[in-house]
Order: sequence, then structure tokens, then C-alpha cells
Amino acid sequence: MFEKTVNKTKAWKKLENHYKHLRKVEMKDMFAFDEDRAKKFSINLEQMYLDYSKNRINERTMKLLMALARESGLEEKIKAMFAGEKINVTEKRAVLHVALRNRSNKPILVDGKNVMPQVNDVLAKMKKFSDAVRFGEFKGYTGKKLTNIVNIGIGGSDLGPFMACEALRKYWAKDINCYFISNIDGTACAEVLNKIDPETTLFIVASKTFTTIETLTNARTCRKWLVDALGEHAVAKHFVALSTNTQEVEKFGINPENMFEFWDFVGGRYSMWSAIGLIIAIAVGFENFERMLEGANAMDQHFYNTDLEHNIPVILAMLGIWYNNFFGVHRYSVIPYDQYLQYVPMYLQQLDMESNGKFVAVNGEYVKYATGPVLFGGAGTNVQHSFYQLIHQGTEIVPMDFIIPAISHNEIGEHHEILVANVLAQGEALMRGKTVKEAAEELKKAGKSREEINYLKKFKSFEGNRPSNTIVFKKIDPYTLGMLIAMYEHKVFVQGVVWNINSFDQYGVELGKQMALSILPELQNNSSENKHDASTGSLIELIKRLRK
Ligand code: F6P
Repeated sequence: MFEKTVNKTKAWKKLENHYKHLRKVEMKDMFAFDEDRAKKFSINLEQMYLDYSKNRINERTMKLLMALARESGLEEKIKAMFAGEKINVTEKRAVLHVALRNRSNKPILVDGKNVMPQVNDVLAKMKKFSDAVRFGEFKGYTGKKLTNIVNIGIGGSDLGPFMACEALRKYWAKDINCYFISNIDGTACAEVLNKIDPETTLFIVASKTFTTIETLTNARTCRKWLVDALGEHAVAKHFVALSTNTQEVEKFGINPENMFEFWDFVGGRYSMWSAIGLIIAIAVGFENFERMLEGANAMDQHFYNTDLEHNIPVILAMLGIWYNNFFGVHRYSVIPYDQYLQYVPMYLQQLDMESNGKFVAVNGEYVKYATGPVLFGGAGTNVQHSFYQLIHQGTEIVPMDFIIPAISHNEIGEHHEILVANVLAQGEALMRGKTVKEAAEELKKAGKSREEINYLKKFKSFEGNRPSNTIVFKKIDPYTLGMLIAMYEHKVFVQGVVWNINSFDQYGVELGKQMALSILPELQNNSSENKHDASTGSLIELIKRLRK
């Protein structure tokens, strides 16, 4: 266990001093002085290319950041994760999403037992079942083909499959439609059930624990809807479960034969590669699902085998730490310029913030430095017309990750070139900015009066020097999607290691859940006890009154 506080390491101290020097340096000057800068700070892996030259760094910054990573024990921790060591120390679990896409099948041991045979068995079962559904061999109770696939899950049991299905929409079988019910809000259920026919619907109940109130409530509602239409016997043909908890699955009324298993070494937010990905396999076909695993595996191999200096997830992670811990910038934004990737930021919010939103280090002490940043994003160019004003001229710096495929799945007219022009323009504009003098000159050229120029020139200026990474893929396909998501998983892992926190538990979601359970009977009038603060207490009373 890494006991030394990271902000007391030699590298951290050096980075603090280095920051004092670099914070005033303009990126545009560094570009002007070094014609090799773009080449120096970019890296390529197969069909993926990362340009990180538009960051407030020089070669010394990267050297010191890598020294910090080494001093934090990163190299040992990477090995420990891949070796199946119980690095999730609070829950005493191994962390082996990498085993789910271990295409070489090299044994990975947990408690002396190779996990690969069970991983492969479930993959084989997923292949058989997804093929049977796609080719109409596994039919509904009345003999009709199952063409509506509904995933009922939340958090990691929803966001990954949802994001991936949307990202790979172009690969969906023509006659299959996928739906996702996650929110406990009855509207989520109602809106899906209104669209589908029980005879042609397969419900996939996805829950690692099979105790999550949202998922079980939604699953019960859907089960009742199906039973009302087709009778109790239909359940076996229309419900499957994805879980680690056989007992609860059985209790719910799903035959364990219709259950696809995974294990406690797979974290919820790291589980789309496991049985949780069943809906992806049904939508795009098992071969494409496997391609996604292969892409993730390529990133795993790169992460495991490459020295830190040339390691994409490590570079991204350490850049994040540079801003978070030295510039005091506790936020970043991910903007895919690809409509199919529009839910990637939402997915990454859970991955990053549930993993690294922690204030206690693994040694049980409070951390004395910032950990996980706030992440937000959306699809470009849409977000250019919502929050980019702040990104360009706000008083807050927001480091950006831009993601762009060179080739679109829908090459219509000049759409894609306009899209690419926009993403490249954003990176350049953020970096270069526009001085007050340049703004004044532009206003002059536009024929404005002297007074107008003097008044408007600051409004029209951009301070620039705002950082961004640009991640280019040849095309988004199952393989490159796998690479992209695995890249962010490892980035989050690296940051957790440096901050010396456990990225794999999520105790922070418990308190709200507990309190909701105590408020529920009060709302339902089954308890007159109101032990809440004045605000919560009167809100309970108000809503009860309004519901009468
Ligand atoms: O939000 C907390 C959480 O435990 C997530 O980590 C998890 O992905 C989600 O709930 C759903 O949990 P389950 O898959 O057990 O239903």
C-alpha cells in the first residue's frame, strides 16, 4: 500500500515550483518557438491518434508528471490489477474488467483460481443466446420473433450498454429495437411499454446485486405487464437476468437457467464487457461485441506494456492531475463530435465521478489535495451553442477532450467536413484566443466608430491559452469504441492510484439511498414519525398535501 501522501513526494514539490514558472507561459508562444511541438506531444495507437500538444506543458512538465506517477507506485499497481490482486481494498476484491476482454486467454488468478474459464463460458452462453434471438430461434411464448429488447438496469447496469448501443446504432440488426428503462420514475416504464408488444419483447433485467430498488421496481412492473397479457408461463420466454446474485434472481421469479452470470471482480461501472453487455451483443451481433472486446484488449495491452512516457491513458491521466492539483482546475469536459457518441459523456460521468469522487485515501486518512474532477459534456456541435460561451470567455478554465472520427457513418454532402472544421476550430481558438488589439483591429475593419471599438474590444477578445486534447479515430466501429472506453477506464485508474484512493468502491451513494427508504413510508402514510430537518419535513408534508 502506498502510504506516503502524494503531495509530500519530491515530484509533487517539483511540479509546484514548475507550475509557478509555466502558468504565465502562452501555448501559442510555445508553438511559435518549437515547430516540432505537435509531433512531440502526440501519439498514435493503431487507428487512434491523440494530440495533446494544446496543453500548458513542456517537456519538463511531462517528465515531472511521469516522475510523480512512478513515485506513486503506478507501475506496480498496473501489474497488480492485471494479476488479479485485491486492489479494491475496502471491499477486498480483485478488479478484473481486463479479464473480460483478455483475448489471449492467459490465465488470471484470483485466490489461486484461474477466472478465464468462467469468463469464456459466459461469453459462449451470450453468443449462443444472442444468435438465437437474432436469428429467431429463441422465440417468445406465442411463437413470435423477439424484436423488442428492453434492458432494465441503472448506473453501470444501464449506462454502458445504453452508450454502446447508441454508439453502434449503425450496426443494429434491421428488425431489432433496443430500449432502456433505468429511472424509477414511472414515466420511464410507461413510455417504453406504450411502444412495444408483449409477444415480441425480451426483458433483460440487469443488476449486479439484484437488490437495486429502481431496477427491481421497474422489473416487477414490466413482469406484471407481461403476465397480464400472456400469463405467468410466458415469463421464461420473455425475461432473462444478468447478475452476480443467483439467489435474488430466483427469488424474483427468473429461472437461473435464464441468468447470465458475472462476478464481484467486475465493478458495476466497468461491466459493459461482461454479461451486462448482452443487449449490445443482441443488437449488433456477437462478432461485433467481440470486436469491441478486442479493441478494449488492444488498449489494455498498450496500457500494460508501454512505458509511462508513451502510454495514452497515463498521459491523459497525468495531464488531468496537472490541471486538477496544480492549476486548481477541478473540472473537465468531454465532447465527442459524433452524434452516435452523444452518450459517452454521460457514461464517463459515472466512470470518473463514481470512481474518483473520494475524500479518504486507501490508508484510511483524509486526503489533503483535490481528487476526482467534475466532468460534463455533450455532442459537438450542439454544445457549442449551449455552454461554449463559458469555455471561451468564462472566468473558469475547462480542459477539453475532443473526440472526432475522420470518417462518418453518414457521409452526406459536406456535413462531416463542417463538423471536422468545427472541432478543429474550437481547439485552435481555445489555444490562440484573440487579443484586445486584434479584436479592435477587426472592429475597425468592420467600420465601427472609435467609441464603439473602445467599448466593444474587450467583449470581443478571448484570453486563449485554454487546454484541449484531440482524439482522432479513423472511424467509430465496435473495435475503436472498445479502445476509447478502455482508454478512459485506465485513465481513471491511473488518477486513483496517484491520489491514493480506491477507485472501485462507491460508498458515497449509500446515504441518500438509506434516507429515501426512511422517507418512503412517511410519504405513503405508513409512518407519522417525522424526524427530518425543517426543510425536508415540510417538503414531505407539502407533497403529501398536493398528492391528495
Ligand atoms: O449507484 C450505485 C450503484 O451501486 C452503481 O455502482 C451501480 O452501477 C448501480 O448502483 C447499479 O447497481 P446494480 O447493478 O447492483 O443494480
